[in-house]
Amino acid sequence: MCGIVGYLGNKKAAPLLVEGLSKLEYRGYDSAGVAILEDGMINVSKCKGRLKNLEERLNEKSYKGSIGIGHTRWATHGEPSDVNSHPHTNSDVTISVVHNGIIENYLKLREWLTGKGYEFLSETDTEVIPNLVDYYYKGDLLEAVMKATSKMEGSYAIGVICKNEPNKLVAVRKDSPLIVGLGEDEYFIASDIPAVLNHTRDVYLLEDKEFVVIDEKGVTLYNEEKEEITKEVYKVTWNADAAEKEGYEDFMLKEIHQQPKAIKDTMTSRINLDSKIALDKINFTKEDLNNIDRIYIVACGTAYHAGVVGKTAIERLAKIPVEVDIASEFRYREPLITEKTLIIVVSQSGETADTLAVLRDGKNKGARVLAVTNVVGSSVSREATDVLYTWAGPEIAVASTKAYVTQLIAMYIIALYFAEVKGTLSNEEILEIKKEMLELPEKVEETLKHKETLQKFASKTYMEKDMFFLGRGLDYAVAMEGSLKLKEISYIHSEAYAGGELKHGPIALIEKGTEVVALLTDENLRDKMVSNIKEVVTRGAKVMGIALEGDTESEKSLDSVIYIPKTLTILTPVISVIPLQLLSYYMAKQKGCDVDKPRNLAKSVTVE
Ligand code: M6R
Repeated sequence: MCGIVGYLGNKKAAPLLVEGLSKLEYRGYDSAGVAILEDGMINVSKCKGRLKNLEERLNEKSYKGSIGIGHTRWATHGEPSDVNSHPHTNSDVTISVVHNGIIENYLKLREWLTGKGYEFLSETDTEVIPNLVDYYYKGDLLEAVMKATSKMEGSYAIGVICKNEPNKLVAVRKDSPLIVGLGEDEYFIASDIPAVLNHTRDVYLLEDKEFVVIDEKGVTLYNEEKEEITKEVYKVTWNADAAEKEGYEDFMLKEIHQQPKAIKDTMTSRINLDSKIALDKINFTKEDLNNIDRIYIVACGTAYHAGVVGKTAIERLAKIPVEVDIASEFRYREPLITEKTLIIVVSQSGETADTLAVLRDGKNKGARVLAVTNVVGSSVSREATDVLYTWAGPEIAVASTKAYVTQLIAMYIIALYFAEVKGTLSNEEILEIKKEMLELPEKVEETLKHKETLQKFASKTYMEKDMFFLGRGLDYAVAMEGSLKLKEISYIHSEAYAGGELKHGPIALIEKGTEVVALLTDENLRDKMVSNIKEVVTRGAKVMGIALEGDTESEKSLDSVIYIPKTLTILTPVISVIPLQLLSYYMAKQKGCDVDKPRNLAKSVTVE
């Protein structure tokens, strides 16, 4: 996720672009830049780091131009660096582009343009856009942008300026947000409304493939056929703070709802039905994998819970033994690490001190370390042997939600890749799993519809002192995550237990009225789980179940039930965790807790 802005008016563009970007930093903040058209030249200033670095540079330059574009970046293709920052330009700097999204076919386009003599400086997917526009430019910027975008696959919101048409800004979107701000004799484009709210409350909310031309005549909108279209002006009535959360009350709720997209983005270009699994630049040969005698998955908190699912996925699909461990324990337990060990570290932030220590120790002992992280350029990503990024976009709420589901997806991708290389699954089996994975975003979307039921449940139970989460197999892994979510944001004491373990002690805690959440979505263990539920019901517990659609039989032993769509058992955690995230969110809200910033917690734990 990145943020883009653009300005054309009668004021100096640079300060207005920076101001707009400051309202979009929630979308990414690893580098920033602007391009200003002034005295017939495009001037680009861009640098790695937070927006204040860019501001310092701009203070030295004091651009006067009143047309420009700007960008705040959350790296996906290419680490955060000055050269990878936006805006990007063609070689002779006559065209400049800011972009939010992912151009999926950028490698093909880059190759094609290279064949035509174009040169590339950065590792980004975006750099193909100004060059493609250049290729099609014959004196009409809109025409060239239309032709260029017709060749682009993936998602984009772009703003384009051109030296030869110094009073024109062209923009368009597809699957990435873009709005147009309509001020008095000044116009803006932006990824989100807060960027323009200090200047106007009148905006156009663009739809996919609607093209915008801003020039001395004002704003003109076109459809793909280059026919002029009209659009209703949307009057913004809410404040900037609410807008940043896209109408959601909190970042956590917004991030819960972003999960279908985050899952889709993480699978993009890695899971395709007609090609082999791609693990980005990572390469394991069959010999490499046969040489690995064990895998350790090591992480903390929620990332550890994703690792627990990862263990099952890798063992079942790729038949390699996996141990999963908490980083702070692993590093002191004298684990057996050799050149035959593969360590997979999982970390949303890529900065967790214990996880980083495991990575360093593992490398010192000769192990190959594969990092799964959400932050390009983080310490973990820089130091690991191989990196697989989760493309969840910046996660602001302390409680991890979208990062967790994308970590699960990364685990499946790794497991499938290993299975494909080792030949432990047939092509048909791999195809079936891939098909089911591609359906996950839709199934998660459907599961989000249970929010009202969960809200009602929360309003009845939020005063509880304790809550128990039960599950077996993969459901136990998800129960652990559900329990962590509840305790960290609602401060309700909760425990997760493996259903079969209850009778070995924990069942002593169950008494009349004890609230239990039981997961019954691991089909292989469902019947056994029903027996465990009966054990707690007999002792007076009230049980809410998370069951698979069609499993009406389970209702008999439950006080209430949330049904989730069916998928392959191995993939079910991606769906079954959704009601648990919503449940903890609504419990915490009912209690009046600050869900985005729970007490005593930090988003990234960079100390031991
Ligand atoms: O950035 P990391 O994934 O390494 O962070 C690990 C944990 O600190 C993190 O998952 C934590 O448990 C979350 N607050 C859970 O919601």
